[in-house]
Amino acid sequence: MQFSAILLVFAAVATIQVAAQDRCKRSIQYCKSFDPDTGESTNVEYDHCIQYCCGGTVYNRDLNMVCCGNKVVGVPQNTSTQVCCGYNNQFVVHDKTGGDLCCGLAVFNNTNSDLACCNPNDETVINIFTEMCCNGVVSFAGDTAYTACCGDVAYDRRVASCPCQNGVVSGIPEVYADCCYSADHTVQTPYNKVNESCCDGVNYVTASQFCCGNEIGESATQACCGDVITDAVGSVSTGGLACCVASDGSVAAYSPDSQ
Ligand SMILES: *[C@@H]1O[C@H](CO)[C@@H](O)[C@H](O)[C@H]1NC(C)=O
Ligand SMILES: *[C@@H]1O[C@H](CO)[C@@H](O)[C@H](O)[C@H]1NC(C)=O
Ligand SMILES: *[C@@H]1O[C@H](CO)[C@@H](O)[C@H](O)[C@H]1NC(C)=O
Repeated sequence: MQFSAILLVFAAVATIQVAAQDRCKRSIQYCKSFDPDTGESTNVEYDHCIQYCCGGTVYNRDLNMVCCGNKVVGVPQNTSTQVCCGYNNQFVVHDKTGGDLCCGLAVFNNTNSDLACCNPNDETVINIFTEMCCNGVVSFAGDTAYTACCGDVAYDRRVASCPCQNGVVSGIPEVYADCCYSADHTVQTPYNKVNESCCDGVNYVTASQFCCGNEIGESATQACCGDVITDAVGSVSTGGLACCVASDGSVAAYSPDSQ
């Protein structure tokens, strides 16, 4: 009488277990467990339906539990309370904070959606409204709606620029900035397109200077005669000098208004 009751209970438990597992195809798998003391790996058998292998350890399956990582490297994660940060085949679980943002292996509370990783691979975080990340370096340049990076440094495009890509130029807004290159590109000078021009790598003031054979001349007293800067002869009343080629082939600049 007592014996048959125990048998009945045993049969009932067995039936429940089969019912719970019948959607999982029972399969024996191996979890390679590494023993740091002996330096040896052993294959541990486990039943894929009721267990999982995570970071070389076998765990019983449980509601909300997953592996943060993989069979070789990883830690169990309770998805209802924890977040998994992984980078470069390393994995760490953290308690949830809200809007969790992983940068590298660290987690940040990003409830306000105002953070971003500087690099996916390191733990530097920036406020996207006030900080820039330039080449992995945090840089501050005011309202990030108007900022850009120049190498490692952020600048405000409204008042500065980076035309030659080799340093921030303050005073020349981005829209007016350009880079003046020499023909061989060895000389680079930033300039303001509004009132300056470019002469073989050197900037000059358009209103009062000119570029002549890759040299800069002064409009008030010089002219460009056959690619040569020529001083004006006689008195000069205005800029805008003209060239005079003499019969012997010599050139002179003169002021057409007065001479
Ligand atoms: C996962 O976290 C929830 C909430 O704290 C908890 O109720 C549950 O027991 C945890 N699961 C495991 C397997 O620890
Ligand atoms: C996350 O940030 C929000 C907003 O700043 C704050 O209310 C909440 O308490 C923070 N959570 C944690 C766990 O610090
Ligand atoms: C060019 O104009 C800017 C203003 O747009 C001024 O600040 C700058 O001094 C001027 N440059 C020259 C060389 O005149």
